[in-house]
Amino acid sequence: MIIQPRTRGFICLTSHPQGAAQNIKNQIEYVKSKGEIANGPKKVLVIGASTGFGIASRISAAFGSGAATIGVFFEKPAAEGKPGTAGWYNSAAFEKEAHEAGLYAKSINGDAFSDDIKKQTIDLIKKDLGQVDLVVYSLASPRRTHPKTGVAHASVLKPIQEPFTNKTVDFHTGVVSDITIQPIENDEDIVNTVAVMGGEDWKFWIEDLKAAGVLADGAKTVAYSYIGPELTYPIYRNGTIGRAKDDLEGTVPAINAILSDLHGVAYVSVNKALVTQSSSAIPVVPLYISLLYKVMKEKGIHEGTIEQMQRLFAERLYTADGKVLLDDKGRIRVDDLEMREDVQAEVAALWEKATTENLAEISDIEGYRNEFFNLFGFNFDGIDYNADTNEVVAVPSIE
Ligand code: NAD
Ligand code: NA
Repeated sequence: MIIQPRTRGFICLTSHPQGAAQNIKNQIEYVKSKGEIANGPKKVLVIGASTGFGIASRISAAFGSGAATIGVFFEKPAAEGKPGTAGWYNSAAFEKEAHEAGLYAKSINGDAFSDDIKKQTIDLIKKDLGQVDLVVYSLASPRRTHPKTGVAHASVLKPIQEPFTNKTVDFHTGVVSDITIQPIENDEDIVNTVAVMGGEDWKFWIEDLKAAGVLADGAKTVAYSYIGPELTYPIYRNGTIGRAKDDLEGTVPAINAILSDLHGVAYVSVNKALVTQSSSAIPVVPLYISLLYKVMKEKGIHEGTIEQMQRLFAERLYTADGKVLLDDKGRIRVDDLEMREDVQAEVAALWEKATTENLAEISDIEGYRNEFFNLFGFNFDGIDYNADTNEVVAVPSIE
């Protein structure tokens, strides 16, 4: 089959296996170029391990500190002339590279919100690793079937009090327009979004892992959050998704309590805005990201997911003196460069000016688009996208 990008709105329906493999190789090379992460993790469970911050976390642990990794994700292999998902190809490539480097790597494909996948994961840890010393929680999903109630929750991306009007961009065409997003009609939308993206499932994981005795003494766990600029507050941090992030951050004390007799600790890391499958679905945010990229690249401080996660591990979670730098709310901040005053002031000024006509010049919309296609294995040099790719791509550890 010849695999070319096929998009519908902010979704790319196809992914390229060799391109995804190149993407993974590039991330591995970056982590290796930064040298060994001293005192880094050794046995790591990554939940949401196939794309975005999750795969970057897995690569940082494996290739930065030689960690054995188990990755949990929800992806599809190729079937009936349809390519597999990017996360499938990423994971296949990751396992292959890890195994070649002599590193343990196995994966579990299924619904991480379910009790069954938690149990399968625990059984695998018991069988192969005994215990894990780091649990990365990097799920991003539009829905969750609650394992205790059976209720299917769907998250929404909406403001809470009033309609929100601002600029947005169709990153495929570069057309800038005004968009108005209506607020929620009732609190159900908040309840559902919190149920999907809040902290309950993270807590369920840690409870189950602890009860099964598969967390090592001193085990750490980290989950990812976002804050961003005031201009996206109505749709992000003060919107339904922000309530879920408040809930996630608010779960830290409960998880610390679960971990206390193991001398373990839970963190939320606030990460930078980046092009991922999840962030491209949020209105207004892609325009902000394309302006942010322009400013940060000009200042020489741009980072992608792998730079973010390597820095999180090397300079925050695993420091020489064991001290973890936190903000006044107890959070790790690797969005520090994004939130720098000079960066935010320049982005805000560009935001006022941005139009369809000047977008190519004042923003990095080209970089946005390129990174979006990169997520699906497209736009990599040295890959022949007109060639037939008939190879069956398996994730080695998954039958
Ligand atoms: P992503 O869409 O790239 O990754 C989501 C991962 O979750 C994938 O591995 C996917 O397979 C997995 N997943 C989804 N549903 C699942 C299910 N039911 N069972 C098992 N696995 C499932 O997203 P991302 O942008 O890397 O987001 C990860 C976290 O980082 C989220 O909490 C997100 O809010 C946060 N974050 C993202 C940004 C950003 O700009 N992208 C910034 C800061 C924080
Ligand atoms: Na992820």
